[in-house]
Amino acid sequence: MARVLVLYGSTEGQTATIAERTAEVLASAGHDSTLIHGNRVPEEFRLSEYDAVVVGASVHKGHHQKYVEQFVREHAKELNRLPSAFFSVSLTAVEDTDEARMTAENLVTEFLAATGWNPDRTAVVAGALKYSRYGLLTRLLMKYVARKKGGGTDTSRDYEYTDWDEVERFATAFARSLDS
Ligand SMILES: Cc1cc2nc3c(=O)[nH]c(=O)nc-3n(C[C@H](O)[C@H](O)[C@H](O)COP(=O)(O)O)c2cc1C
Repeated sequence: MARVLVLYGSTEGQTATIAERTAEVLASAGHDSTLIHGNRVPEEFRLSEYDAVVVGASVHKGHHQKYVEQFVREHAKELNRLPSAFFSVSLTAVEDTDEARMTAENLVTEFLAATGWNPDRTAVVAGALKYSRYGLLTRLLMKYVARKKGGGTDTSRDYEYTDWDEVERFATAFARSLDS
């Protein structure tokens, strides 16, 4: 059994749900998983209390949450010594084109270059359009973006694009790698 930290950043909640699912999969694989919001890290937090780490963050205006970036940068040395994985949640990951795949991968590469972290695995995960959580301007902006990218444009409802099987496969593969 490994003690696994799942630390995440989330602005509208989708990455939080993905991180929760990841922690559940790790727990059902027999590991002791702890979920922490990257913006609410307890004062008494010690990375040395964990054997492995999964970090998740979502993309807003071309960047992952600053507080996650800061956490990873501050702990990069320790993270590089532990088994670790990173998942990046975005709408770019929804698009089925080579260009979008490259953009989504580049966002991961930029995050890792900025933090000095070399996780064992990375994944890009399709996020959600949560019109119900947006203020008026963001709703209009995201409707415009969605129209251009082929996403949902009915602002009276939310759209979830996350492939939960893929999330489970990612978490299961990481869980198994901790057994060997
Ligand atoms: C204001 C805003 C800006 C966004 N900018 C980007 C972006 O630059 N690239 C992208 O791929 N997705 C972008 N997204 C989509 C989010 O990554 C997606 O909605 C994700 O599910 C958000 O995850 P969260 O709910 O955990 O914050 C943006 C969303 C919002 C609301």
